Amino acid sequence: MNEMSNPGFRLLPEQASNWAASVDGLFFLLIAVTVFFAGLISAMNIYFGIKYRESKNPKPTQVHGSTPLEIFWSVVPLAISLVIFGWGADIFFRMNDAPANALDIYTTGKQWMWKIQHPEGKREINELHIPIGQPIKITMTSEDTIHSFFIPDFRVKMDVLPGRYTSIWFEATKPGKYRLYCTEYCGTKHSEMIGWVYAMEPDDYDRWVAGNVSGMTLAEAGQKMFQSLGCETCHNKASGARGPDLAGRFGRAEMLQTGRTVVMDEDYVRESILNPAAKIVAGYQPLMPTFQGQISEENLMRIIAYIKSIGTADEALNEGGAQ
Ligand code: CUA
Repeated sequence: MNEMSNPGFRLLPEQASNWAASVDGLFFLLIAVTVFFAGLISAMNIYFGIKYRESKNPKPTQVHGSTPLEIFWSVVPLAISLVIFGWGADIFFRMNDAPANALDIYTTGKQWMWKIQHPEGKREINELHIPIGQPIKITMTSEDTIHSFFIPDFRVKMDVLPGRYTSIWFEATKPGKYRLYCTEYCGTKHSEMIGWVYAMEPDDYDRWVAGNVSGMTLAEAGQKMFQSLGCETCHNKASGARGPDLAGRFGRAEMLQTGRTVVMDEDYVRESILNPAAKIVAGYQPLMPTFQGQISEENLMRIIAYIKSIGTADEALNEGGAQ
């Protein structure tokens, strides 16, 4: 069957991201190993079934173990498994380590739609516009139940969980329109929780993202929330302030009252807003009220974008004079 007669048919989705080739490579290795051993075992079954059939071999010879054979069939599968493990772990770790220059895009899943926020302030529903040739980091959470974010053409899939952040990164390599799926059953309209990803040339993306109705970037919108909720009254630079000053702290390890340390990441900021008493930074009192139920997931993401924008640990170190 040629492509003309059935243009929609493909054995595999398109390879449209930096991950596609390595994920497919691993997939083909698994298929090759499976097919090879299924074939070998079937062939041996048939061959030995015929060779040692009852009429030729009425009294079978008993075999009581063979050390060389035992070693052979233990070491060979172990070696094959280790290759598969190593290859898979390599992709897994690289997928979890987003480059520092990645474009931060925030996604909230809810029954039954995808809500997307761009750093420049643009928002969209069930559509994701991205530039090609640039790493994109998607940070996601859910407003209700478990969803899963899946772009088959990019070979990326990540569970979207209520109450915490998960993330994935990729770089689109080909301009085009690709399907976005929810791939975790999440209720009646799970199958309608789908959307489109538009991978665009960087110039086209810049034009698209410039059409921003609110006129505020995500961090600016977060700053506005930060001010309107009164966070600045305590989180400021004054000595003796009731809360830690947040500038330059994102990504840094904080010593807690309990003596433990925690890295100030998205999850820690989120928890500290919703459940402030959970992890108090050493030297401060648990005075902060909870904002549970008062801030939507999308606004939490804006506040996090603001806190990130006022300096990261790397920048703070550079300012400290380390060359
Ligand atoms: Cu959301 Cu399935």
